Amino acid sequence: MRRPFLAGNWKMNLDRRSALDLVNQVRAAADRRADVDVAVFPSYVYLDEVARALAGSRVRLGAQDMCHEDSGAFTGAVSAARLTPVGCESDSLGHPARRHGFGARAQLVGAKVRKALEAGIDPILCVGETIEEREDGRTEEVVKRQLVAGLASVSAAEMSKVTIAYEPVWAIGTGLTATSEQAGAVHDYLRGVLAGLFDEAVANATRIQYGGSVKPSNVSELMAVDSIDGALVGGASLDGDSFTAIIEFQN
Ligand code: 13P
Repeated sequence: MRRPFLAGNWKMNLDRRSALDLVNQVRAAADRRADVDVAVFPSYVYLDEVARALAGSRVRLGAQDMCHEDSGAFTGAVSAARLTPVGCESDSLGHPARRHGFGARAQLVGAKVRKALEAGIDPILCVGETIEEREDGRTEEVVKRQLVAGLASVSAAEMSKVTIAYEPVWAIGTGLTATSEQAGAVHDYLRGVLAGLFDEAVANATRIQYGGSVKPSNVSELMAVDSIDGALVGGASLDGDSFTAIIEFQN
């Protein structure tokens, strides 16, 4: 049985005060909903304070990316070695905003996944196609390439630490959600690829989140799909009431 995993990706939003207010609401919601895992992914600059606000709670803390190196002359980058001391337990890697906005190639994402695992940080590996790739019938080819490269150096045993997030680029921040059939089909496909890379047991145990315009009004329908194990939520995670409603989805 895969435990539902609901995560809020705050992206480059929220100031200090609103981040700390929001975290209190998320903490309370997670306490009421013990059968799901919850995480938040704030800006780097608030990780330390948010970690303190989350002390003793069920909510896990994640960063929104990290460098593939430990230290050195990487201006503007943040390494796993800087993230773990502030209480960072997870990291979203290969988010479409990083792949498409900042040119992160699939192999580089794989190197980051490796670094995260070595540092004791549980990675969320994001994969997803653009609208052009979908319309060209290349969705499976694209997500497979991203998945295979992202997991190139991961062992079957390490897969218990890894979450996959299917984030179709065309559904992110657009209000367009993949239908539960569209998302479910890609999740099933990804699980098949995992079975080929590892084995059936790993494929069945790995959580695959869906991300792309998840909101209180569509979360239950998405979560009802067998192969959808959670959500990586952007816009709707910035408001305490709406993220609470997502955490408390009906199942
Ligand atoms: P939205 O929920 O705003 O579409 O963002 C999804 C996302 O990118 C989560 O990482």
